[in-house]
Amino acid sequence: MAEFENRSAHEGAEEQTWAGDFDPFSEEGERQSLFAALDSFRQYRRTAHQWTTHRRRQAFYALPSAHWQMLSEPPFSILDTLNQVDDAIDTNAEIADAILALSLESFGLEADPEKGDPHNWHDTATTSDVNKASSTIRQFFRDWSAEGRAERAVCYDPVLRDLDTEFQARRDAGEEIRVLVPGAGLGRLVFEVCLAGYAAEGNEISYHQLFASSWILNHTAGPAAHALHPFALKFSNLHSRAQQLRKVMIPDVHPGLAMAKAAETQAPFGSMSMTAADFVVHYMEPSNRESFDAVASVFFIDTAPNLIRYIETVYHCLKPGGLWINVGPLLWHFEDGHPRTDEGEGTGSETKSTDQGSFGIGEPGNVELSEDEVLCLVERMGFSIEVRPSDRQPCGYIQDPESMFQNLYQPSHWVARKAVQ
Ligand SMILES: C[S@@+](CC[C@H](N)C(=O)[O-])C[C@H]1O[C@@H](n2cnc3c(N)ncnc32)[C@H](O)[C@@H]1O
Repeated sequence: MAEFENRSAHEGAEEQTWAGDFDPFSEEGERQSLFAALDSFRQYRRTAHQWTTHRRRQAFYALPSAHWQMLSEPPFSILDTLNQVDDAIDTNAEIADAILALSLESFGLEADPEKGDPHNWHDTATTSDVNKASSTIRQFFRDWSAEGRAERAVCYDPVLRDLDTEFQARRDAGEEIRVLVPGAGLGRLVFEVCLAGYAAEGNEISYHQLFASSWILNHTAGPAAHALHPFALKFSNLHSRAQQLRKVMIPDVHPGLAMAKAAETQAPFGSMSMTAADFVVHYMEPSNRESFDAVASVFFIDTAPNLIRYIETVYHCLKPGGLWINVGPLLWHFEDGHPRTDEGEGTGSETKSTDQGSFGIGEPGNVELSEDEVLCLVERMGFSIEVRPSDRQPCGYIQDPESMFQNLYQPSHWVARKAVQ
């Protein structure tokens, strides 16, 4: 387990460490996951050019010459478009390069290791790893652009409202309220929970997400410091090229500055940290028993192959009477035998063997439940449901709001309380 600490506001925005008993090089599988994630950010630029524009140019020139010539002229100017997409890829690749440089430094790895070096991480990424780097970069749109606010309003605002309804008085009286955010992604909810005055702890299994959240939370120069073209690599369902090439600036809010300001003007002031581990493996540890006042799971519970393990874990780490706030759909991640290795992006702590068998993401078995079954199970396992799903607001997940194709969820929002005794 790695504890990736971020206490950026008052203790200095640059502070960030991988701490605890975490040695990413100690175990082969862990090292492979780490190296593959690093290499996927290295390969982002080259593969994005190759898969996006290079192949399209070849296919374009394979058209009858009179056709491609007509489409090369205004107002179509397809070749100019491909050049602009290349520029957009280079802009996005600056983010990939920045994440890579930071991550290499964190782990003390060489940018250009020798071929025989046991720490040679080059050429370890698979296509799936590179796709994850690409979707991670697009995900900044959701968590850290002004334009992603619509998604965050549906997914994160209910959590902040529920926390305030329950804890405002205790928080304002100076009590530390500990809130766990499993599957924290790029860290925006963790940051918002901290900014609202709570002790926020994010948890994430994916190195891609951990590297990217570490960068955005600790290492950007200021608000709107980086340009991102979130939808430039997609050529379908466009009204116009301007839509495809649209640029957003990240971060919309600079975490360090926002927290420094909050520290000056706001009392009480929250804190923020991140653990790099499988949720079940880490939070079933005896040390985490009854240690959180709330768990806020957003677009997370459907990542479980076995939801009972997640419910047991939430139960274990919540204090008696603690609150579980959930927002998200039920897009079961392992539906229909989806291979576990695809999730093998983790921190090497995906499975743990105990007397009860092995558990964690590598555990065998899988089940997909409906919302009513999920709620029944949560109640059966020691919670009372205090807020049931009702007002279902639609939202996308890294969805281009202008696209002709809208992939929308109506996430399930509910609040459960752990029994007091
Ligand atoms: C659909 S994403 C949601 C991310 C974020 N909560 C959001 O709303 O944007 C689910 C996240 O859960 C993480 N995850 C999946 N299984 C996990 C596990 N067992 N432990 C910790 N994180 C996990 C994934 O890596 C991914 O970042």
